[in-house]
Amino acid sequence: MRRLLWLCLLLPAGLLLGQDEEPRIHDPELDELAVSIYSKFLAEDYETIRADLRKLRDACSEMKVEERERYGSLVLDYDRSFHRALDRVRALAARGEWDDSGIQYEWVMRSCVGCHRASREAGFGPPVPVP
Ligand code: HEC
Repeated sequence: MRRLLWLCLLLPAGLLLGQDEEPRIHDPELDELAVSIYSKFLAEDYETIRADLRKLRDACSEMKVEERERYGSLVLDYDRSFHRALDRVRALAARGEWDDSGIQYEWVMRSCVGCHRASREAGFGPPVPVP
């Protein structure tokens, strides 16, 4: 009974704390998806890449100019280059230009690394090692 009481007290506190957290910059499950897309490019396994790329885009909403204050302009620049590169990868993939699409995808991955470095330097980035 006592245990149940504790649970009732702790649960709402946990929920409230959860709500207080800043919204995440992107879905934290991103690395598995991003790395699996890269492996598929390497293996020339193109069957599901277009759908995967769409998922990747949906997991990272583009940063708004108002968010520049919170994250800083360097992080905003990386966000821009990430989305620009990803749009290009998707356009090339849509046309079946897989070689160029794969080369362009490397710029997407570089933006992950660059943005993590920039945001770590600004004091809020993810711990290493993350892609
Ligand atoms: C515009 C900046 C930016 C880009 C681009 C970006 N990230 Fe992140 N990432 C962050 C920040 C900032 C965090 C720290 C947590 C937060 O604020 O959401 C983070 C956290 C993470 C985490 C850790 C999540 C956790 O459990 O805390 C992973 C994994 C990750 N990113 C993977 C990726 C991958 C893979 C890509 C590229 C496909 C990518 N990120 C692109 C900024 C970025």
